[in-house]
Amino acid sequence: MKVLREIFGPIPGIGDASLYTITNSNGITLKVSDYGCTIQSLLVPDKNGKPGDVVLGFDKLEGYLQDHPYIGTIVGRYANRISNARFMLDGTEYRLVQNHGKNHLHGGAVGFDKVLWQASEFADKKGAGVSLEYVSHDMEEGYPGFLRVSVTYTLDDENQVCIDYQATTDKPTHLNLTNHSYFNLNEAAEEVYDHELMIASSRYVVTGRDLIPTGEIRSVEGSPLDFRIPKPIGKDIHEVEGGFDLCYVLEGDGKTTVLAARVVDPESGRCMETLTTEPGIQFYSSNFLAGITGKGGIPYRKHLALCLEAQHFPDTPNQPDFPSTLLHPGETYNQRTIYKFSNTQDSP
Ligand code: BGC
Repeated sequence: MKVLREIFGPIPGIGDASLYTITNSNGITLKVSDYGCTIQSLLVPDKNGKPGDVVLGFDKLEGYLQDHPYIGTIVGRYANRISNARFMLDGTEYRLVQNHGKNHLHGGAVGFDKVLWQASEFADKKGAGVSLEYVSHDMEEGYPGFLRVSVTYTLDDENQVCIDYQATTDKPTHLNLTNHSYFNLNEAAEEVYDHELMIASSRYVVTGRDLIPTGEIRSVEGSPLDFRIPKPIGKDIHEVEGGFDLCYVLEGDGKTTVLAARVVDPESGRCMETLTTEPGIQFYSSNFLAGITGKGGIPYRKHLALCLEAQHFPDTPNQPDFPSTLLHPGETYNQRTIYKFSNTQDSP
């Protein structure tokens, strides 16, 4: 396996962004850009062996330079919401950029999705990929600490796209990273209503106004949010206002990856499993997607894709009972999340 690099396009005032292409021996091709640390394209064979793109994105860099809802990017410093864009830490109040009403969403006005990362490619026996690094300065978007972040995308011959995250800080800070890919296993031919989804979770983080957690964790039992037994996304979506946009609680130990979700598209036969070390997974059925044209001229619209964002719970800095997102000097933040592909023709 090897990695090819090409110029993706110029970022005004900054320099050229690159696009890295990694192909495995089973016909999967992953493209990653250093702008926003973004998965730009992911070709996966269907049940007849025909490769097709399973992620939303843009053909050209300009698409990523416009305002867009984090399509394929890394999100940070804090994926999801922080209420009132503030938190207290060691007796000091930190005020973050308010970029979602009075709240803070996905790292602020210029988050990790809107910066150029330093990339280096690699290929070894286990797979090939790209490692990307970004240094976030003290008080960037309001967060304390000089933070060094690295994200490594690896594609292997087990048909896994593995995302490894690491970070260190020189001051206590909060950190919650994720990848924000929008998946449609049927090449965005139609809304994801027929995709069959299983989420290995019996509890979710209850939210109130503006999708801010109330602090309650509730059972999915007997509700349209219950995906423990696989069901088509469209089955109950209209019973949930706007569609699905919630964080499910996972039961891993934080060190080893556990199966969080499995999605199957019966038409193309493509299947994807999400495994993660994180304590939560946000299932977002692209409820607010609208008004942008994506790859191949496809109008991106509501419910065209699903995001399965491995992460800590929203608003943890203001919720003392949630698993902590604090990172201290001397510690290393570690996360591994895997998207693993197969198809209905594969033997189990
Ligand atoms: C959130 C949505 C938000 C979307 C795009 C998702 O992670 O859960 O509420 O609209 O990102 O910003």
